Amino acid sequence: QDEPAGRACGKVILLGEHAAVYDKHVLAVPLPEAIEARVRPADGRSRLRIPAWGVDEPVVPGRRGSSAAVATVALIMRELHVAERHYDIEVDARIPAAMGLGASAAIAVAIIRAFDLQLGFRLDNRTIDTLAFECEKLAHGTPSGIDNNLATYGEPVLYTRSTASRTKPIQLSEVPPLVVASSGKRGVTKDMVAGVAKRYASNQTLYDTIFSEIDELSVAGSVALRDADYESLGSMMNVCHGFLNAIEVSTPELEKMVHIARLNGALGAKLTGAGGGGSIVALCPGRSHDVAAALKKAGYAIIRFSDS
Ligand code: PMV
Repeated sequence: QDEPAGRACGKVILLGEHAAVYDKHVLAVPLPEAIEARVRPADGRSRLRIPAWGVDEPVVPGRRGSSAAVATVALIMRELHVAERHYDIEVDARIPAAMGLGASAAIAVAIIRAFDLQLGFRLDNRTIDTLAFECEKLAHGTPSGIDNNLATYGEPVLYTRSTASRTKPIQLSEVPPLVVASSGKRGVTKDMVAGVAKRYASNQTLYDTIFSEIDELSVAGSVALRDADYESLGSMMNVCHGFLNAIEVSTPELEKMVHIARLNGALGAKLTGAGGGGSIVALCPGRSHDVAAALKKAGYAIIRFSDS
C-alpha cells in the first residue's frame, strides 16, 4: 500500500447513451472515488489483482481466456514502453464491473496514472484520456469516448465524439439528488452496442429520428442540470428511457426498477449505460431516501446516493 495511488472516476449517464455512438450529445456526471490502482515492480511476471471482482491473473499479452482487464493492462504497458518489465498491479474497485458505470475506462485511467506516478512520466490528462480511449476500443469496439472522458477529468459534461477535444465541464451549483442502483445482472456494452448497430442498419431512418430526439434531450438536459431545474430534467430522463426501451436495450428488470423509483417519488428514472442489465439512475429531490429504501427492499444494490 506504500505506492501512490492512481485514481479515476466512474460515470453515470443522465441522457444520451447509445446515441453517443452515432455522434450525438450525451450528458453524464462523475462517480467519484470509483477506482484506485497501485503499481510496484515485481520479480518474475506481471500480475493484475482486482480483489473486489475476483480477478487475479498473470499479465500475458495475447493469452487466450485473459480478462478484458488483463488485455487493458497489456496495452497500457506496451504503449508506455514498459512491456518488457514486471509489475504487480493492484486495483481497488469500488464500483461493480459491467453495470453501466464506466468501470472499464476507470480501471484503464487509474492504472495509467499509477504507472505514471511509479515511473515519473508526468503524463497530461489529454494523453491519459487518449490512451484510455484505445483501451476502450479494445473492450467495446466503437466507444463514443464518454467513459474515458469522465474517468480522466471527473467533471459533469455534455459530450459528443466529434467535439471530444473541446468538451467543457458543466458548472453545477449543487450535487444533483441522484440514486444509482444496480440490477446485479451484467450488461455487456460491446454486445448491446452491436445489437443497436444491427437494428440501426435495417431501420436507419427510424433510428436516426430517435437519435436526433435523444440528442435534443441531452442538450436541453444539460441546461436543466446546470440550473438545477429537476422537474424538466426528470421528465427528459423519463422520455429518454422510453427511447432506450424503443431501441431494445432495456430489460424487464430495469423496467421494474424504473417503475419502483418513479412510484416512490423520483421525478425521472431511466436505465443508465449500455443496458441489457446494469444499472438505473433516478433523480429524486427530497425523495432519495424513499427511492433508495424501496429499491433496496426489492433486492437491488444501491451504488450511490445523494440528496438535495
Ligand atoms: O455501459 P457503459 O458504462 O460502457 O456505457 C456505455 C455507453 C454507450 O453509449 C452505450 C456506449 C458509448 O461508448 O458511448
